[in-house]
Amino acid sequence: MNVSDRPVQPIREPENWAPDSWQAREAIQQPHYEDQAALGAALGELSERPPLVTSWEVLTLKRLVAEAQEGRRFVLQGGDCAESFADCNNRVITNRLKVLLQMSLVLVHGMRLPVLRVGRFAGQYAKPRSADTETRDDITLPSYRGDIINAPAFTPEARRADPHRLLRAHSHSAMTMNFTRALIDGGFADLHHPEYWDLAWVDHSPLASEYRQMVDGISDSLRFMETLAGEALESFSRVDFFTSHEALLLHYEQAQTRRVPRQWGWFNLGTHFPWIGMRTAALDGAHVEYFRGIRNPVAIKVGPTMQRDHLLRLLDVLNPDDEPGRMTLIHRMGADKVADKLPPLLEAVRASGRRVLWVCDPMHGNTESTSNGYKTRRFANVAGELEQAFDAHAAAGTRLGGVHLELTGEDVTECIGGARGLVEADLSRAYKSTVDPRLNYEQSLELAMLIVRKSGGRISV
Ligand code: PEP
Ligand code: CO
Repeated sequence: MNVSDRPVQPIREPENWAPDSWQAREAIQQPHYEDQAALGAALGELSERPPLVTSWEVLTLKRLVAEAQEGRRFVLQGGDCAESFADCNNRVITNRLKVLLQMSLVLVHGMRLPVLRVGRFAGQYAKPRSADTETRDDITLPSYRGDIINAPAFTPEARRADPHRLLRAHSHSAMTMNFTRALIDGGFADLHHPEYWDLAWVDHSPLASEYRQMVDGISDSLRFMETLAGEALESFSRVDFFTSHEALLLHYEQAQTRRVPRQWGWFNLGTHFPWIGMRTAALDGAHVEYFRGIRNPVAIKVGPTMQRDHLLRLLDVLNPDDEPGRMTLIHRMGADKVADKLPPLLEAVRASGRRVLWVCDPMHGNTESTSNGYKTRRFANVAGELEQAFDAHAAAGTRLGGVHLELTGEDVTECIGGARGLVEADLSRAYKSTVDPRLNYEQSLELAMLIVRKSGGRISV
């Protein structure tokens, strides 16, 4: 059945909700601002700024997520663990876009499905932390919580929660979004010119010939279709890109929450696709309360401690009318737990008849520390979790409809393994992440090829 043919459920304004109703609940993972007057002033200014996205885009995305729920699209969601203000520059933004475009080309071609591209960028500035403070040599300071709150340097000044950073985060999000939109509208994502997306080191990669062969095949098919049609196929000249981030810092999210003309309800217009992190999904907590009232498509991270009843209750609270496109569940179990922990949840949601999109995040359950003090992830574990997730869905009669990855277009050495066989000793060469380790360009492309194989598609043309 077509998404638009579905019987429309009565969708309505949520009861007893306002953009600030979360403030009556317990809000964990929030910073402490000493200067409340400065906080108020920053939030006041923020709430007057123009939105970063529009309600039309948000509703279009919801329709596309609904298509993915029906198996007619595959979602590729990726970007940094934590964006940093310093990385809001031409090179980093372009390279990240290039790697996401290359991966989506591999997926579209191999899976024969349209890919819905969602960036973890233009707002991914707030991080949950396992402890509120960090101690080094008898000195204890607040933890670094992302550039929207404080700075990573271990000094009292850097770690102070600074309200002015809320405005800087918004400006950096706007700059990122502006440049990304301009690149895409200007033809950077044109399938006629995949060479625009080449990264400097692509030719030296062990995966280069496989990728080149695929790109040549696509160019040939495109020329063939255009010859038949007698004109250039405009629809191949642009792709859509949506933005997402963990909506963790609720004062910031509240200031981005708006009504728009000719629509009922409230939209978060600071991003298209906010998600609730694993640590902030308490049913009676502030984050779930905030998310309940916005009309955006939303996602929840689902970790190995998630209980079936809790998950079903979250779906009741966040999507009482079972609206198509509203709910995405991103599971992140770990390669050693996914085979045990995922099937009961798949079964429970399937039995409830609830409409969800299942996405696998094979990164966050596979973080470990090396003996020389680096936080890393092994490519074999990332790939292993993803493969097992495909198997678990096949066995449960559900569908894995997307992946959620931490990656960068930079040539970093943060994750171990992959085609070039990075080892622990390589990590110090180019370790740049301030929070979690990301897949580099080559590891990302390799994972895209693995997804194609695992989902029954083929790479070669
Ligand atoms: C993240 O996505 O960076 C993150 C902190 O994830 P999770 O909530 O799944 O731990
Ligand atoms: Co992370």
